[in-house]
Amino acid sequence: MKLIDIKKSNGIALITGASSGIGEAFATELAAMKHDITLVSRRQNKLEQLAKDLREKYEINVNIIIADLSTEQGIESIEEYIKNTPNLDLLINCAGFGLRGDFHNLNKDQISQIIDVHVKSSTRFCRAAIPVMRDRGYGYIINVSSLAAFFPFKGSAIYVATKIYLVYFSKAIQKEVRKYNIKIQALCPGVTNTGFHYTEAFKDFDRSTVPKHLWMQPDSVAKKSLKALKNKKVVYIPGFKNKVIGVLTQIGNLFAP
Ligand SMILES: NC(=O)c1ccc[n+]([C@@H]2O[C@H](COP(=O)([O-])OP(=O)(O)OC[C@H]3O[C@@H](n4cnc5c(N)ncnc54)[C@H](OP(=O)(O)O)[C@@H]3O)[C@@H](O)[C@H]2O)c1
Repeated sequence: MKLIDIKKSNGIALITGASSGIGEAFATELAAMKHDITLVSRRQNKLEQLAKDLREKYEINVNIIIADLSTEQGIESIEEYIKNTPNLDLLINCAGFGLRGDFHNLNKDQISQIIDVHVKSSTRFCRAAIPVMRDRGYGYIINVSSLAAFFPFKGSAIYVATKIYLVYFSKAIQKEVRKYNIKIQALCPGVTNTGFHYTEAFKDFDRSTVPKHLWMQPDSVAKKSLKALKNKKVVYIPGFKNKVIGVLTQIGNLFAP
């Protein structure tokens, strides 16, 4: 692969889930590199404020698109944008949320929504972006999975299943698109200080049960992920402790009943 240095390209990066947490951190990192960006999420006020701050601070072009990625209409609007953006050189599929509880008790609409946001939208955006990046001669795609993808733990069946989909999907398409100079990363963060654990799904979750030293900051996750785009490996686990957990878990899975 002969990739262009993302810091020196004059392309556009599209980031879903940019209104908060890891997606917002990606937007800020890329803006600091003077990369033009397009931000996607549902909360218009958050995106407008972020876009204004980044334009003023870094003098870059920032577009915003308000879209609910759990709807076909929302997905189609982003697909159209991707197809009509010939200088797209980085796609970050980061939008996501948690869903907890025994599978058979989960709300069926929420099951559909999480599958649509994590699996359907990421898949459709990759499908739209690959021909654009192929024609441009290079490109990067980051699919935000999770360290939880390797933990099939009870109470998180749908979340972990959608996240392991992103791991295998990313690995398989990397083999297909290497010849077009397109690099795919399946980013697998461990616990990260964002809005993720402050939603209704986590209302009974005691954050103090996770040791303090395991929590990462979203800006560190985004920085490490962007730096790791030059690596050959598809799966990227940010943070040394998370890497150790990831390796041990995958070994454990081989022997688990
Ligand atoms: N935080 C962690 O510990 C952790 C660990 C591993 C992986 N992750 C993954 O990291 C990604 C980002 O999460 P985060 O931790 O940064 O959480 P966050 O702060 O809650 O951000 C989630 C983002 O997803 C967007 N989003 C959610 N549902 C959406 C929908 N239907 N349509 C469009 N956008 C939607 C939200 O925007 P709006 O609400 O404005 O739409 C928000 O920008 C997720 O995929 C998550 O699974 C997080």
